[in-house]
Formats: sequence, structure tokens, C-alpha cells
Amino acid sequence: MKKVIVCILLSVLYISCDSSQKKSSKDSLQVAKLAIEDIPTSDSLSIDLVELKRKGLLENTQVVIVKPDPVYHKNKRFNALPLKDIFEKYSLIKRMNAADLKVVFECEDGYKPEMPLEKLLSAKAYLAVSDADAPKGRAWEILIKNGQETKMEPFYVVYEGVSADDIAYKWPYNLVKIHFAPLHENDAALKPKDEAALAGYELFKNRCQTCHSINKIGGKMGPELNYPKSVTEYWKTDDLKAFIQNPAAYRNDVKMPNLGIKPEEATEIVKYLSYMSKTPTPKGE
Ligand code: HEC
Repeated sequence: MKKVIVCILLSVLYISCDSSQKKSSKDSLQVAKLAIEDIPTSDSLSIDLVELKRKGLLENTQVVIVKPDPVYHKNKRFNALPLKDIFEKYSLIKRMNAADLKVVFECEDGYKPEMPLEKLLSAKAYLAVSDADAPKGRAWEILIKNGQETKMEPFYVVYEGVSADDIAYKWPYNLVKIHFAPLHENDAALKPKDEAALAGYELFKNRCQTCHSINKIGGKMGPELNYPKSVTEYWKTDDLKAFIQNPAAYRNDVKMPNLGIKPEEATEIVKYLSYMSKTPTPKGE
């Protein structure tokens, strides 16, 4: 059933994105269906990396040097494969228009960053399969964060020539799956109609949604912030703004990192969260 839905969705995307090719819709449907059968993963809009590894399809690695690595905070070497090759081999993105798609990284711990596919393809992005500097008997060098060992495996996305400060690029570790979705998939549900909340929305989308959901859309590393009750309804506004800028000032051993959010940015984000508190019902309920 899932496969049929994917076939239909894919065909719709395929037909709507690839208008340059004058194929009949029936032909396109046929092509999409055939290609899905050829691909060893469960469906062609998502790539199950663990499954690819199990099948021995991620062994042809090269050594990639990352200077400096933003997670280990030093220069690192990884055994890795170009992400573009993996995308082209194990998904149907080559047949679609990259400008219409985003890449969503799914990590085991609920972290779920996303970025435009075109942006990712324009960089030298790699899937690191193991750490070339790891001590004998380990796949990854031990990384301690907040006093706890961080699980890097099974996969980590790294880049050559991308600054760690450029927040448009995502460096997910503990990564298990990648999927592709329409670039503006969540606009209808999350983008505010009120201009005054737009700046906060952009900040939230880029800085917070990787870990937090609003009306069930977003990451699961941190708590949902709007459903069934908005944080703006049970936090005092000033505390909420201060927490967003410095979570450790409120909670011992807090898991939310200090993201370097400025006071005026916190104000915009809270404006957006307040706006969303008035649209509290997730789709379908
Ligand atoms: C790397 C993941 C991560 C990012 C990014 C992140 N958070 Fe969090 N956030 C968390 C976690 C985890 C918690 C739970 C904190 C705890 O109690 O340890 C949390 C808690 C919160 C809370 C408290 C919710 C409650 O009622 O207890 C708010 C509000 C919040 N985050 C807002 C934000 C905003 C706004 C942003 C973006 C500027 C953001 N967070 C970015 C992980 C994250």
C-alpha cells in the first residue's frame, strides 16, 4: 500500500517537475514504477542507510579531510562516500527537479534537520561511514558532550570546504535515514499569514525545528512547543525569551544547547510562537 502511494506521489512530482520532457503521463508513471522496482531500498523518496550498509553497498569509501570538524572541534579524517552518488544510485532524485526538493535527515535520537537539496548538491557533501582516526577496535573517536558519550554511529554527514559557522549546512550524526520531500511541504501548516510573525518563523525553521515540533511537524529531540498547549501559554514571556537565549540558566544538565540566539531574535521567535498558539490544531484532528 505504501509503495502504491509512493508511486502515485512520485509520478505526480515527476510529471509536474519534468515538464521539459514531452512524455505522456502514462509513460512517466511506467518509468517511475519500473525504477522503484530497481532500487534496493524500501521506496525511492527515502534512503534507509542502515539497510544499504547491511547489503554491503557502502563499502567503497574514500578518506575525506574536514578542517575543522564542527562536532569534534578539530581537523578530522573520515571514511566516506559522496552523498550525491548515494542519492543518484538509491533514490529517484535524478529524475526530479532538485530545486523543488529538500533533504530531511532522520537521526536515531529524534534530531531531524533539513536543507534544500540544491544547496546540498552544490557542496562537497559526504556520508561518513567511520572515523579514520578512531582508536583500534572502534568505528568512531569517543566524543563527550555535556559529560556524556555521544553516539556518532551509524552515519555522520560532513563537508569539504564548508564553514562550520554556516548554519545553512547541517552536520547530522547518529543518522539512520534520509528522505526527500517537496521544498515547501510544511508552508501551509507552519508559515504565518501575518507578516509580523514571518521573521520569527524563519528563525524557528532554521534554528529550532530540527529538535522541536509545532503541531507535530518537526524534530523530536526536544518537546513539542504548541500542541496541545503552546509554551507561550504556560511560560512567562520574559522567561521564555531568556530560556531560548540561555537554557542552562534555567535547568541543570539541560539538553538544549546554547544556540547564540540574540535578544531581538528571541523576541521574534516568541512572536511567532504566540501567533501559532492561535492555530493549535494539527492537521486531521
Ligand atoms: C539540539 C536540539 C535543540 C534545538 C536546536 C533547540 N532546542 Fe529547545 N529544547 C531541546 C531539548 C532537548 C529541550 C528539553 C530541555 C531539557 O529539559 O533538558 C528543549 C526545551 C525547550 C523549551 C522548554 C519547553 C518546556 O516547556 O519545557 C523551549 C521553550 C525551547 N526548547 C525552545 C527552543 C527554541 C525557540 C529553539 C530555537 C531557537 C530551540 N528550542 C532549539 C532541544 C533543542
